[in-house]
Amino acid sequence: MSSAAYVFDAYGTLFDVHAAARRHASRVGPDYQRLSDLWRAKQLEYSWVRTLMGAYQDFWPLTEQALDYALARCPSVDKALRSDLLEAYWRLDCYPEVPAVLKELRQRGSKVAILSNGSPAMLEAAVANAALDMVIDDIFSVDAIRAYKTAPAVYDLVTTQYRLYPNAVSFQSSNRWDIAGAAKFGFRTVWVNRAQMPDEYFDFGPDLILPSLDSL
Ligand code: LAC
Repeated sequence: MSSAAYVFDAYGTLFDVHAAARRHASRVGPDYQRLSDLWRAKQLEYSWVRTLMGAYQDFWPLTEQALDYALARCPSVDKALRSDLLEAYWRLDCYPEVPAVLKELRQRGSKVAILSNGSPAMLEAAVANAALDMVIDDIFSVDAIRAYKTAPAVYDLVTTQYRLYPNAVSFQSSNRWDIAGAAKFGFRTVWVNRAQMPDEYFDFGPDLILPSLDSL
């Protein structure tokens, strides 16, 4: 079954968030995966806490603050790597199947878009770096409403702009909590379980689970 619009989460779904630390792994040292995991976990925690508090800051300062926290928790990592790690976040690799899958969906006549916590500048840089400009119709950033996923108003950005009912949108994310938010909103949902994580949020389950975007 095809959908009128295919909307993708950015970080973890199209772009590999661990690519920044991996790119500098030899200099970061043996703690590179722990650093990367903490960096990502804190970045997300800050997004949820700030949305609950009503104290929005865009995703870039949250990404910087999260790295500073992760560096403080990983004393073996040279803090002088901070600027290189942050710089790499603007040029994250996309997963190998992404360009062809997006191209194919668009050729079939569906809208193809990103809906992400990222700031507009971060998302534009990531899309340009991965040469995805030609296969993406729209980039929706939460910055427009100054609240992060899983606030329902985030998912509503897409349905309002496209004048679609939620169930006409297929939403893909590798973040299970994001799938829960999108399912609660009424999107059709595809959990891209790249890391083979156990299921959770059972009352807001995905319509489909895929190991990558390949078979979408
Ligand atoms: C995003 C985060 C959740 O791109 O990965 O919205």
